[in-house]
Amino acid sequence: MKNRIIVAMDVPSRKDAISLAKKLDPSLCRLKVGMELFTAAGPAVVEDLRNLGFDIFLDLKYHDIPDTVAGAIRSAAGLGVWMANIHCLGGRKIMEAAANAVPREVRLLIIGVTILTSMKVTDLREVGIDDDESSDPTFPMVRLAQLAKQSGLDGVVCSGQEAAAIRKATDDSFTLVTPGIRLPDGNKNDQARIVTPEMAIQSGASHLVVGRPITGAADPVAALHEFNNRIASVAN
Ligand code: C5P
Repeated sequence: MKNRIIVAMDVPSRKDAISLAKKLDPSLCRLKVGMELFTAAGPAVVEDLRNLGFDIFLDLKYHDIPDTVAGAIRSAAGLGVWMANIHCLGGRKIMEAAANAVPREVRLLIIGVTILTSMKVTDLREVGIDDDESSDPTFPMVRLAQLAKQSGLDGVVCSGQEAAAIRKATDDSFTLVTPGIRLPDGNKNDQARIVTPEMAIQSGASHLVVGRPITGAADPVAALHEFNNRIASVAN
């Protein structure tokens, strides 16, 4: 599979996004437009980045009632994005509404966020999400991923730490997108459940979201090459 890195464009303006994208290369990565950039620059920036040749993952993590989420997915499809996402914690009805929002011929991947990679077990317990009696920390994520698959979603966003368990509980066609990727000596920033690019691929990840380790590097293209080389060293 080519182009497994999705660079997170977590920048505050259209100008910053275009200048960063021009340093990258659509044959080496796809781009993720998240809430910071989309809130500042709106749909126009998606068009700008598409015009530079990039596939776009619109990472707005919709979490609302089913009809509202379905409408948002239709709007995302209208922007010509490659992938969009919702929160699995919205439950089966919003996942089904999202999966059925656009005809299958519209080639838009719709994936669900299981549990944010910034959350640890203690954070989950605090909001009432407990691991099961066997104390398996991957349990809530695997259960949400199975529900996402049953509901017709194309895949999930999950941590590389539970990707292997989710891959085992679903199948090879299910898209696993893993953020929280760091080089062994990299800065964790606000992430908690992190893995290296090699570990993510070996655990069954389809795509890796990488933000600050590339966008904050002195030479973003060199950093992108390093991530791609590490992936190639372990990929089939
Ligand atoms: O800079 P860093 O590599 O930590 O960026 C990770 C990106 O992935 C951010 O844009 C963040 O919003 C996103 N993300 C995440 N965890 C999720 C879903 C998305 O970190 N579960």
